Amino acid sequence: MAKRNTSYTCQNCGTSYGKWAGQCDSCGEWNTIIEEKGVEAVPKGLGKGKGNAIEFVGLQGASEEAPRLVSTVKEFDRVCGGGLVPGSAILVGGDPGIGKSTLLLQVVGMLSAKNSCIYVSGEESVDQIRMRARRLGLEEKDVSLAAATSVRDLITTLEKSSKVGVVVIDSIQTMFIDSLDSAPGTVAQVRTSAQELIRIAKRRGFSLLIVGHVTKEGTIAGPRVLEHMVDTVLYFEGDRGHQFRILRAIKNRFGPTDEIGVFEMTETGLMEVENPSALFLAQRRGDISGATVFAGIEGSRPVLVEIQALVAPSSLGTPRRAVVGWDTGRLSMVLAVLEARCGISFAGKDVYLNVAGGLRVSEPAADLAVAAALISALNDEPLPSDSVVFGEVGLSGEVRPVGQADLRLKEAQKLGFSRCYTPGQEGKKKQQIDIGFQSNAIEHLRGLIDLLSDNTDQSSKRLGAV
Ligand SMILES: Nc1ncnc2c1ncn2[C@@H]1O[C@H](COP(=O)(O)OP(=O)(O)OP(=O)(O)O)[C@@H](O)[C@H]1O
Ligand SMILES: [Mg+2]
Ligand SMILES: [Zn+2]
Repeated sequence: MAKRNTSYTCQNCGTSYGKWAGQCDSCGEWNTIIEEKGVEAVPKGLGKGKGNAIEFVGLQGASEEAPRLVSTVKEFDRVCGGGLVPGSAILVGGDPGIGKSTLLLQVVGMLSAKNSCIYVSGEESVDQIRMRARRLGLEEKDVSLAAATSVRDLITTLEKSSKVGVVVIDSIQTMFIDSLDSAPGTVAQVRTSAQELIRIAKRRGFSLLIVGHVTKEGTIAGPRVLEHMVDTVLYFEGDRGHQFRILRAIKNRFGPTDEIGVFEMTETGLMEVENPSALFLAQRRGDISGATVFAGIEGSRPVLVEIQALVAPSSLGTPRRAVVGWDTGRLSMVLAVLEARCGISFAGKDVYLNVAGGLRVSEPAADLAVAAALISALNDEPLPSDSVVFGEVGLSGEVRPVGQADLRLKEAQKLGFSRCYTPGQEGKKKQQIDIGFQSNAIEHLRGLIDLLSDNTDQSSKRLGAV
């Protein structure tokens, strides 16, 4: 019997298997493995035939850096590391309906002032895109539009057109190559389409922006499959219930990662948010127990967000621990440290933690702010409303210094905060720099608990107990 070219590929991570399985061993997702024809599970070896010898060169040499294409959408340019690099490929991932098409249409709209831009959509008709352009006030911009899905046609077209600057592919899951048997959206199609498009982008020197849907079902391949192939991976995230959208760099060969751009989704498109802290704190009401303001750093920028905690009696055998916008494991750690090192009990209580505004905080520096919110919620005792908190908590309950304390405090001062709970040394140093800041240097969580339990003591210059 002739061997069939069939493999079973996980649509989440792209791992191939010789036979079908319910769960992917590689990424642990269920029901993501589907049959793909025309792909071999184990690729053929090299076989016979000699290759050519490769000539090596030194690190030094004449290779000037091409100027970046700047879109003037500052939040976008910064996340890309200062603009688009010619010949590079950028993947923009995100949940359905979060605003990927809107963002990229706005970006190419701005880029079209100086570069020849192409927008290819496999999802929407030309009319739909024109309608969106009109709503965004971009109908006058010089962007070449097409509704197409065949990669072969695209490559032929791009090969012929002269001086292309930027190409947007919306989305890679709709693109297909007719020589492959599998359906559009499968790993084989997505990978091969991306490969071909990236190759021509490098050769012709245009910037390629690829939209990739994030999927859970596994019937179409997600951006994970492409992350290694592209130069830059951006995720566009946000809560559908909120107006804020955050563009986050996950990987960037041409710039820093962890940089974020903040946008607000409005009727007329995405607006840049230059001062995210003000936005995240806009709906804050001071003097509520369980709420603290965390002075964080996102990428190169300080961002202040409110962290809210709720502690309520539980009717369940195993109390709930629910987290939005922070790491669940990290919350468990802070709770365990509070219980084991400070003698505070959360037994029989549900704990809810929420980062207001839809931001996802990943810094360990938020530990102290979370601890403060939890203590405040448990005691039903609000923190002073003009205070910010930051610091990392260790397993013995010690509070460790974190980076860029100055930057955090400066931003807090700019927004009218005048009191801070910070790690020991940081606070002392700060006291000397800014006399305006009322500083509480905390060396151990017990010190924080003492401080919070006697809010009547307004001098608050005391050092925490060690
Ligand atoms: N007329 C409108 N007024 C205000 N906001 C709108 C309007 N039309 C769309 N939007 C906003 O734009 C969002 C959809 O944006 P967009 O189509 O760019 O998302 P997407 O990520 O490309 O979605 P998809 O996954 O479907 O491609 C909607 O969720 C909505 O918030
Ligand atoms: Mg779209
Ligand atoms: Zn997998």
